[in-house]
Amino acid sequence: MDLNELSGVLEEVTKALKPYQEGFHKFSRLPETGMKRDDVIGLMQKLSEFEAGRWKSGFASGAVYHGDDEYNEFLSSVYALNVASNPLHPDIWPSATKFESEIVAMTAGMLGADKTADPIVGTLSSGGTDSILLAMKTYRDWARAEKGIAEPEIVAPVTAHAAFVKAAHYFDMKIVKVPVGLDFRADVAAMERAITPDTAVIVGSAPPFPHGLVDPIDELSELARSCGIGFHTDACLGGFILPWAEKLGYNVPAFDFRLPGVTSISADTHKFGYAPKGSSVILYRGNELRHHQYFSITDWPGGLYFTPSFAGSRSGALIASCWAALVSMGEKGYLEAARQILETAEWIRRKIGEIPELQVIGDPLFVIALRSDAFSIYQIQEFMSRRGWSLNGLILPPSVHICVTLRHAQPGVKERFIDDLKAAVEFVRGNPDAPAGLGPLYGMGASVEMRGMAKGMLNSLLDLLYE
Ligand SMILES: Cc1ncc(COP(=O)(O)O)c(C=O)c1O
Repeated sequence: MDLNELSGVLEEVTKALKPYQEGFHKFSRLPETGMKRDDVIGLMQKLSEFEAGRWKSGFASGAVYHGDDEYNEFLSSVYALNVASNPLHPDIWPSATKFESEIVAMTAGMLGADKTADPIVGTLSSGGTDSILLAMKTYRDWARAEKGIAEPEIVAPVTAHAAFVKAAHYFDMKIVKVPVGLDFRADVAAMERAITPDTAVIVGSAPPFPHGLVDPIDELSELARSCGIGFHTDACLGGFILPWAEKLGYNVPAFDFRLPGVTSISADTHKFGYAPKGSSVILYRGNELRHHQYFSITDWPGGLYFTPSFAGSRSGALIASCWAALVSMGEKGYLEAARQILETAEWIRRKIGEIPELQVIGDPLFVIALRSDAFSIYQIQEFMSRRGWSLNGLILPPSVHICVTLRHAQPGVKERFIDDLKAAVEFVRGNPDAPAGLGPLYGMGASVEMRGMAKGMLNSLLDLLYE
């Protein structure tokens, strides 16, 4: 592939944004006189109508986990009541602190805190990446303080979320990325070989984003325990659905604090916790570990300053809305939602099994990754995106996935997905040169020589998006 073809790919991506950018006035400076509030609302309504068609009708993989209109209105009312709230001022908004500690306690209880004698503590963060960054910084500081490791390392399977690489980059840590086994799950023996005297933490995911197959957390966390180091379960995606799947009788491998070697867990309230975007929970076994996350300064002219996480001021409204999501759903609500999602995913998997050109990777519960021996899976993804679907493209191996949510449990959505998938296969069968959309860019990521160029392309893409 040459540079012209590559910039063609970039152009394709930006073209997709054009109707959005051209259809609405672009503010490149503050309006001299403020817009009328009604006009602002009118504009928001137009934008929302423009965007909502796809996600409301279940065309997105993951992204919107609940999305019911009435439920969103309920969360919006809670947000409105708390719009000024900021937990940085607990004297003014003690409710925000109360909500936060209760969210942490309810999440911990769901993830095995009541089955262990150790205290399980934590804080709220702004999302999965934020929770992972917090945990990795915590292990860095813990390893330096408690184990005298000057340059602490992370050992993680390659399928662990990109946020772990981001954490290593931000916090000057080394991350050892270990290939997964033939079953696409963490390879315990290979992980063991990657441990050095400088390893601070081992990572496993329940499940990882790409193929949705839960790592062998029991063996990995025991390995960490036997080495006297930390083990982080990334349950950002699965934390609020696997406990309910287990209760419903699905085969869910152990991944939570019932395993004594698990020393921290990230679980996203803003995914299957059905809270609005902007919240996640990071939990630790024991307060000693959590202390390495805190920040405080006692000699600042601005006074005593102390925060539990990275942010200073935070949105108390998001915390209140997250709390409202948890208590309004309750155990029965989460169980019922999980039942619908898992049954929908099972149905989709069964139907994909009837398409000989497509193969599901492993035996997943709700993230279904597909590959093809017959043609480029990115040709299928491109056809699907022209039909409105937003599936996630993956590399190593080339595949795409759909993360099933409540949006897909609406009547007719799963049937439409399978019909479109069958049409895609039919089309690519008859058109071997069918376009592969972003496929070439994914392909670049798979080859070492091309990765530098791919990074350059992604930087240009970010510049275009935020110009
Ligand atoms: C397993 C896993 N970890 C972490 C994250 C990061 O979450 P966020 O996008 O909220 O930062 C995701 C996101 O999909 C995920 O699937």
